Amino acid sequence: MCGIVAYVGPKDAAPILLEGLQRLEYRGYDSAGLAVVNGKTLKTRKVKGRVADLAAAMPARFKGGLGIGHTRWATHGVPSDLNAHPHVDADERIAVVHNGIIENAAELRRKLEADGVVFASETDTEVLAHLIARTADETSSLEDAVRLALKSVVGTYGIAVVDAQRPGEVVVARNGSPIVLGIGEKEMFAASDVAALIRYTRQVVHLEDGELAVLKADGFHTFTSDAMETAKEPFTVDWEAGHYDTGGYEHYLLKEISEQPETVARTLSGRVDDRFHIAHLGGLNMDARETRSFRRVKIIGCGSAYYSGQIGAQLIEELARIPADAEPASEFRYRSPVVEPDTLYVAISQSGETYDTLAAVQELKRKGGRVIGIVNAVGSAIAREVDGGVYLHAGPEVSVASTKAFTSTAVAFALLALHLGRVRDLSPADGRRICEGLRRLPDQIEQILKLDEQIKALAQSYANAPGMMFVGRVRGYPVAREGAQKLKEISYVHAEAYPASELKHGPLALISPELPTVAIVPDDELLDKNLTTLGEIRARSGRILMIGHRSAEQADDCIVIPKNEVELDPILLTIPLQLFAYHAAVALARDVDKPRNLAKSVTVE
Ligand code: F6R
Repeated sequence: MCGIVAYVGPKDAAPILLEGLQRLEYRGYDSAGLAVVNGKTLKTRKVKGRVADLAAAMPARFKGGLGIGHTRWATHGVPSDLNAHPHVDADERIAVVHNGIIENAAELRRKLEADGVVFASETDTEVLAHLIARTADETSSLEDAVRLALKSVVGTYGIAVVDAQRPGEVVVARNGSPIVLGIGEKEMFAASDVAALIRYTRQVVHLEDGELAVLKADGFHTFTSDAMETAKEPFTVDWEAGHYDTGGYEHYLLKEISEQPETVARTLSGRVDDRFHIAHLGGLNMDARETRSFRRVKIIGCGSAYYSGQIGAQLIEELARIPADAEPASEFRYRSPVVEPDTLYVAISQSGETYDTLAAVQELKRKGGRVIGIVNAVGSAIAREVDGGVYLHAGPEVSVASTKAFTSTAVAFALLALHLGRVRDLSPADGRRICEGLRRLPDQIEQILKLDEQIKALAQSYANAPGMMFVGRVRGYPVAREGAQKLKEISYVHAEAYPASELKHGPLALISPELPTVAIVPDDELLDKNLTTLGEIRARSGRILMIGHRSAEQADDCIVIPKNEVELDPILLTIPLQLFAYHAAVALARDVDKPRNLAKSVTVE
């Protein structure tokens, strides 16, 4: 949600900032801007639109070895040139870029206006520029000016600040919105996401909430809001610059869908024990006795992460026979949840930065809950906050819609369910069945990807429907939810998911030749029940696309995929739905990787 990048060093900042912003554009893309300091002059350029529009608007000469840049996802004020970041004070001395929301912006603005400050934008961020400028006059350093100004600010922020009067340094601060420092050779970087840094350095340092840093070409130091120095250990990021390219695919989304045989293999790598038919999940930091002690599992995450959590809850109940359920973290955190000592809490997040999920984890920890994470981004805020967990190793996910991380999360849940099951009553024979099933997944995904042409033709023939219904029963229901989510977010076709069993309790009234249904019909013990539902839809002249392991006369079209163990089938059933949504979105000429109104990593409330 919005992207920040900052540079200080011997090179010209602008090209580095533009390159970084391009890498971050998936986090927000309604306007972009940058500011550089040359000598003691501050120059800014900002535009409504994409980073490419900013690049096109850059003057030929925009020199300066210190700078900050931003790509925006609007919260306060419409997308416009004026509301784009950086924001500056009246003397154009201080420039600020900001991710997050300043909750007391209106009050601060009133006070500043009463003192004669004239605002140029409608944003909450601009108050920061004016506040810091005022404090800068009274303090001997920019770091103190920023630190003291932030004392009157309530809200969340990741910020980067430069001062034309103090060239050679940039100050960054974090409170609820990520900031990561990149350490180069006689140059320093900062960004809201390692994606912007990876082309220049793999040595990074994550700031914690309440921490600030001063970056100069020859190094950095970090400190708290009370000016106490903090010690930081850099760590090496193992994602490579190539992970952030489309790799010859037309879209990141298609690339990420196609990567799934390898990404699932990486999630499984070293974790399936064929000798004892168990899962090795060393990152949980739990011995067998503790693993046995939980009487319930509660899973939290947002959006697609939550749907993968629903698949996880089903897997845990089936394989470990522990009551498990999933809930949106965005709801959980607001309802003063009852936190039980014998419940294992599992937080899911691809980015590891989703604010609602992070806040839910923090609430759980305040109440003494035992929280583990299933996270993709190594070293991210949620990964640092939890007591242990499972990394997905799916590599960076750039397209806004989640695909490979969704699948890898479901796979990680299968491993967790196996682990929890085998210290309880899951027999070695069943453990072996699941281990073998897990090992078959990468090849089976490969086979599903080969259905691309068939799925593309089907997507093209359904894409113009005014809406679509997705139905599934028990294991199939979270799959239906994720299928509807993918379709609506990237194609903007209205899509609704229902448990197949609930159709007759109301939504059947919607069924007509104009509203097609995608039905998830695995070959499991509920097959006959599902086929009966298809019959009911057909009797109302509803068109049906069935996803399953065989064709059925009740359906107009069928996508037949390889079968695994019934418990693991939901992992595979989602893949054709990803391709279906992708091709529908392409057929409708949507901006597949950057759907309207959305952004990757929702780091605001
Ligand atoms: C949907 C999608 C979102 C995310 C959600 C959580 O395709 O990408 O629904 O799943 O915003 O994001 P993470 O997993 O980063 O916490």
